[in-house]
Amino acid sequence: MTNSYAIAVLPGDGIGPEVVGCALEVLDAAEERFGFSTDRSTFAAGANHYLETGELFDAVEAQLRDKQAILFGSMGDPRVTPGILERGFILEMRQRFQQAANVRPVRLYPGVPTPIAELTPERCEMVIVRENTEGAYVGRGSTVHAGTPNAVAMQESLNTHAGIERVVDFAFRLALGRRKKLTLCHKTNILVAAGQLWQQVVAEVGARYPEVEVDYVHVDAMCFHLPLTPERFDVVVTDNLFGDIITDLGAVIQGGLGVATSANLNLDGSAPSMFEAIHGSAPDIAGKGWANPAGAILSLALMLGHLGEGEAARAVEAATVEVLGSLPSLAGADMGASTSELGSRIAAIVREGRADTALVPDSLLGVLAGMAPSRLAR
Ligand code: IPM
Ligand code: MG
Repeated sequence: MTNSYAIAVLPGDGIGPEVVGCALEVLDAAEERFGFSTDRSTFAAGANHYLETGELFDAVEAQLRDKQAILFGSMGDPRVTPGILERGFILEMRQRFQQAANVRPVRLYPGVPTPIAELTPERCEMVIVRENTEGAYVGRGSTVHAGTPNAVAMQESLNTHAGIERVVDFAFRLALGRRKKLTLCHKTNILVAAGQLWQQVVAEVGARYPEVEVDYVHVDAMCFHLPLTPERFDVVVTDNLFGDIITDLGAVIQGGLGVATSANLNLDGSAPSMFEAIHGSAPDIAGKGWANPAGAILSLALMLGHLGEGEAARAVEAATVEVLGSLPSLAGADMGASTSELGSRIAAIVREGRADTALVPDSLLGVLAGMAPSRLAR
């Protein structure tokens, strides 16, 4: 009997459908090569659907909940007021499905150009674990006297012991399987209340993982060290907003937003995890074939690792790295091939069993295999 997985596909807006189309072609190839299958349900969520129906995450929550994993493209459109889709869909999904850990590998792959002079792949191989349901992202706050010179805006950051603990514990387990080094990134000298709770939880949880060395860095200093001495970091655990910011910097170092990817993991099996590239919908280049599908295809690799198809995941990652390394430029008109051509090239390497897994150490997929329960179909 072959393994079969029920997955939801949400291509979304802008370049989302183009890059997710590539990921699905690669998924076809992986299924052929590795002998598993997926039952895919595609959902028309995003700007068009919202403008036509007014529907956001609520409308699909029940249908998504049954799935074993969610492959997500990107959302955002100039016709929709900023925040509506982000809050009403992406953040709703992360919070309602308790996708507590946003796992963002920052890896410079061989052959991929980086703006950091003399940086080599051996020196840039870390995973940033971003708390994904709390902090400033809970959207609590209020404004009084709005629109007047007396306006007062309060924006709160919510930090719970339980919410921090689950993501910190995940980060320690991850560190245990890697270089056994965990760095907490925060701003404890200024955000004293939240910072103390984070430090306390790291100390408590760390006592259960005596083998793991614990380090601390302020988030501003992180922005200094990340490009210059990335080798200092292996697993970094951080608050939601800091994680959002430093992973864009991480993406730059690893070759741009076209390459960076992420897993939004539910850690208790109560709802599906979601896999997405870090880039947005890039409406300015949508339809031109200029988007790099690597981020989306690597998010497929993360999803496959999560579902337990580790061999397929590694092949997809290696094929992507090989094609990335052959490009004259990582995005835009001078990428040397269109979005869909790149997808087909990567799919062909996977299908024909030509993926050279020596190109990638185990790390990206070691991240996920068995670390968070993949949700079983009911
Ligand atoms: C990300 C994005 C999202 C975030 C937006 C689109 C809501 O920037 O995934 O990093 O802020 O988390
Ligand atoms: Mg972001």
